[in-house]
Amino acid sequence: MSTLEIPVIIARKRDGEPIPADDLLAFIAAYVAGGVDDAQMAAFLMAGVIRGFSREEAVTLTQALLESGDRIDLSGLRGPTVDKHSTGGVGDTTTLVVGPLLAAAGCQVAKLSGRGLGHTGGTLDKLESIPGFRVDLSPEQLHDQVERIGLAVAAATQDLVPADKRLYALRDVTGTVASPALIASSVMSKKLAGGAQHVLLDVKAGDGAFMATVEAAVDLATLCVEIGEAHGRRTGALVTDMSQPLGDAIGNALEVGAAIEVLRGERSGRLRELSVDLAAGLLELTGREPAAARTEIERLLHEGVALETFREFVAAQGGDPGVADRPWEVLPVAPVVEEWRPGSGVVQGFACRRLGELAASLGAGRQRQGDVLDLAVGLEVLPRTGDVVDDGAAVVRVHARTPDAAERVLAQLDGAVRMGSDPADPVALVHRAVGFSGS
Ligand code: URA
Repeated sequence: MSTLEIPVIIARKRDGEPIPADDLLAFIAAYVAGGVDDAQMAAFLMAGVIRGFSREEAVTLTQALLESGDRIDLSGLRGPTVDKHSTGGVGDTTTLVVGPLLAAAGCQVAKLSGRGLGHTGGTLDKLESIPGFRVDLSPEQLHDQVERIGLAVAAATQDLVPADKRLYALRDVTGTVASPALIASSVMSKKLAGGAQHVLLDVKAGDGAFMATVEAAVDLATLCVEIGEAHGRRTGALVTDMSQPLGDAIGNALEVGAAIEVLRGERSGRLRELSVDLAAGLLELTGREPAAARTEIERLLHEGVALETFREFVAAQGGDPGVADRPWEVLPVAPVVEEWRPGSGVVQGFACRRLGELAASLGAGRQRQGDVLDLAVGLEVLPRTGDVVDDGAAVVRVHARTPDAAERVLAQLDGAVRMGSDPADPVALVHRAVGFSGS
């Protein structure tokens, strides 16, 4: 691409004119090759955030990102290849339940996951709280493990969608994350590069998510589904609640323990409910009839088949498989546990992002890339919006490294959990399904 054309493309976006697909592909390729500098790309991104991108441009952007790096080839695997992706939330550990459930159902799950940043947790950090667990699998090791046991979870290599890595870092510091097309192309390019033929997105809506409203989340979900289908993948999405933490636990080992308790049949609640919805939804995308898919997933959970798959998966990646039997003896445990008891009342709602930030401030999350985590610490948030709390009952449990850290967080919970005396309506867990027959 000539240097003359680059300012023209930026100006077209500034003026709200469509960008032809070939120009957009060449523009992103030039950025990766060093022919477009960060200032030019930032100007283009900001113009795009303000002017918006068309559906066609979103599909082309995804293609451009995808073409920047390697793709995982899962074509040799027996059984349907499936992937699920959450746009990120607080207390959101469904991968650790959904992965074993789908593998137990005969699907092939090669999952590339990320680390936590800011108020959201990351699957890789959570898994590393299991002693010995390794997430640095080569593409060959990933493939072999999936072939053997149906499930592997690994860190994405530097060569997978490198353009997204650079663009995401630039968007992060230029106020240009919040664009549906930029988020959808970023998410979907990684899903497409991951190689699965069936993709289910869990698009979060609420204060703890990128999309604050259900309407914005439905738009993002619809765009992701269109991009996936345009690239030949069977794609669906659930738009789900992130106005409050999904599970009770926020923090790495705490969330792994909670997921294991779901697999052991010892824990009910929204983490279990959504895990079943997602696993059944993905089975449906592979062609299973909806009611049969749900019955099968409930059976695999109830009969402990998914727990056995989880045990095999942990052992295959070097972790202590005893964690499946005695999670709280194997996982790291925080030395200080303090309870917050605000008195009787009704939970009116949560500052969900704030709860994630408070858990991160204890050491469960990073303020910047490269920070070392304390895998044992975090919060347990026990009631949900609309629940009645009795006098003296614990609402939040703080798991901290020191008494001072626990006190500091206890003093800030008042603003993060809104208590009142009026009745409050519970919030639906699944707001919408997109891309399913009948949705
Ligand atoms: N997650 C991603 O992978 N990319 C985005 O742009 C936002 C969330």
